[in-house]
Amino acid sequence: MKDLISMRDLDRDQILHFMDIAAQIEQGDLIPDMKHKLAALLFFEPSTRTHFSFATAMKKLGGQTITMRGTASTSVQKGETFADTLKTVAQYADIIVMRTAVEGSARYASEVVDIPVVNAGDGANQHPTQALLDLYSIMKTQGTLENLTIGVVGDLKFGRTVHSLVQAMSDFTPRFYFISPSHLRMPSYILEDLKAKKVWYKEISDAEEHINDLDIMYVTRIQKERFTDPEEYEKVKNAYIITRDMLSGVKDNFRLMHPLPRVNEISTDIDSTEYAYYFQQAKNGVYMRQAILTLLLGGEK
Ligand code: CP
Repeated sequence: MKDLISMRDLDRDQILHFMDIAAQIEQGDLIPDMKHKLAALLFFEPSTRTHFSFATAMKKLGGQTITMRGTASTSVQKGETFADTLKTVAQYADIIVMRTAVEGSARYASEVVDIPVVNAGDGANQHPTQALLDLYSIMKTQGTLENLTIGVVGDLKFGRTVHSLVQAMSDFTPRFYFISPSHLRMPSYILEDLKAKKVWYKEISDAEEHINDLDIMYVTRIQKERFTDPEEYEKVKNAYIITRDMLSGVKDNFRLMHPLPRVNEISTDIDSTEYAYYFQQAKNGVYMRQAILTLLLGGEK
């Protein structure tokens, strides 16, 4: 595998291999050496976790990073094309980690440069490194990826993390409740994939209806930046707020996950409960991104 662009490109064994390498790194059984490697972190869209966890991961591996955050101080302002920017950066770095607002841009980048490209989010399309850390988090909390019941809550139309997560879990016989306002449902191409794989799912609007049946509730923010009409965003921005009261009957193994950033989807008084897992989830991102850099740069040998 040269690049990591979409969860659709990975099969079950490849996903499990990422889990295994992340676990070995976390437990100290594998200490890859990236001393002579340099990652270019090109972020055309804002990020806290993905950027910092990739930077942390590379530093912990002994490697180095160069960073672009927005184009304000680059020659894009002078009219340089996206392709020329990528081809130039590829002269300096061993791997490109990139985030843009444009769907398909990471795939395009992987065709333009010879070094590995990691999709750190392309518009509303995919966020595969988030999906891999989410699966790693699910594995750590549940002890398995198999036969789990997962409620996916919020903006399922524009949320790239849930698109990648659902595709990633689909090889592990999950049951999904897709919980969203009616006009923010999961895209039909993803539902078609699930039908083809005979994955059970149900689309509902009430977050409490099946909460006591869930192993994982994966909550997402309404993606304000993807709305063309601000009034439409205002109508749905508070569609779901998970409160402590709602968790009174959940299963012992129930865990609440969120890719973050949180706006107000999860009440902060849940943070101190055993059910909150979103900050550990963010920490797991470092182990998984160490695994991703290691595997794409051939450092596991
Ligand atoms: N989960 C996630 O992608 O967070 P950031 O946007 O802060 O990177």
